[in-house]
Amino acid sequence: MTLLDARETVTDEAIALAERHVAHNYSPLPVVAASAEGAWITDVDGRRYLDCLAAYSAVNFGHRNPEITAAAHAQLDTLTLVSRAFHADKLGPFCAALARLCGKDMVLPMNSGAEAVESGLKVARKWGADVKGVPPGRANIVVADNNFHGRTISIVSFSSDPAARDGFGPFTPGFRSVPFGDAAALDRAIDDDTVAVLLEPIQGEAGIVVPPDDYLPAARALCTQRNALLIVDEIQSGLARTGYTFACDHWGVVPDVYLLGKALGGGVVPLSAVVADSEVLGVLHPGEHGSTFGGNPLAAAIGTTVVAMLARGEFQARAAELGAQLHRRLAELVGAGVVALRGLGLWAGVDIDPALGTGKEISRRLATRGVLVKDTHGSTLRFAPPLVITAPEIDWATDQFARVLREAA
Ligand SMILES: Cc1ncc(COP(=O)(O)O)c(C=O)c1O
Repeated sequence: MTLLDARETVTDEAIALAERHVAHNYSPLPVVAASAEGAWITDVDGRRYLDCLAAYSAVNFGHRNPEITAAAHAQLDTLTLVSRAFHADKLGPFCAALARLCGKDMVLPMNSGAEAVESGLKVARKWGADVKGVPPGRANIVVADNNFHGRTISIVSFSSDPAARDGFGPFTPGFRSVPFGDAAALDRAIDDDTVAVLLEPIQGEAGIVVPPDDYLPAARALCTQRNALLIVDEIQSGLARTGYTFACDHWGVVPDVYLLGKALGGGVVPLSAVVADSEVLGVLHPGEHGSTFGGNPLAAAIGTTVVAMLARGEFQARAAELGAQLHRRLAELVGAGVVALRGLGLWAGVDIDPALGTGKEISRRLATRGVLVKDTHGSTLRFAPPLVITAPEIDWATDQFARVLREAA
């Protein structure tokens, strides 16, 4: 057996074991990560890859960011979990800092992104009942076609993706979906029983779809006029990814409710949050909502560090500057295998000429060249590297992409 054969065996065995025992709800690329640092992942065979997915933006600050891991280590040696049955010293400072970052006054801490979305929906319904005065059972929430907000029953109830929905009914009622980017459709969908409009400012899983410039300002104005909450899901788009703290900032839009997750946990722990003013979050009273792990001391210590890093603005600046480079380099490939390019900051959706292969096939080829990306919806690839990526690394990744496209032609 050659050295190469032996190496292949380590990866193959790891994948075979996972295939047998891990539920098949994902179809990962054949790369088995063993360690990572900054923007680089090393696999079980010692091969290195430039990570251009950043765990769907959960690793915005880079793998094992030293500031974040220092906070995690210190907290691991102090206190990790008491539940919300008692106070813990890290939760107040975390919520105060996050509320300040958002320009709001209250935070509801949760864990996964889907939980933040579910919690936001519950808060909106409760606000509708208690504040707006919508009669019981009548509340509706307007969402956008091709949304992605997570995987719970209620969230997939308003998905337009058959793979997310089929076989999972019966569904939760009370949602209406209208085309993304169409303010007139939004206007028509809102009625007296509408308690909220829930939007991703830029649709991530749909392929990094940026709406027309007047869309989010129009959504903001409509929600204000019609007394409905504007809930913005910044779980993937937020926390510096697009060059601002929130994607909404590109259009100067301030929602009533921010939904945050992914990078809030620093790529270390699941940490999500609903952030709003007390007129909104104040509708929750003891016993009406909760989570055993939500806002635990470890997550709160990490979250406080993440918020402090965001308050400095350097990651937003990196995303803006390096994002311009990423988009410039990818734009050079339009007509050379790329048929469309979208996105903002260090976030790009790239549609590949379907004649060259599926997004999955191109991702596999890119992985063999040392670049990890993720396909979405057939022939779209997304590039969302950790924000610590450097300019030469962006050049190298886009060079590899150009080579793969040339080879596939
Ligand atoms: C916009 C958006 N909302 C919610 C979620 C769900 O987050 P989680 O996977 O942590 O439940 C995601 C995940 O990709 C997302 O992109």
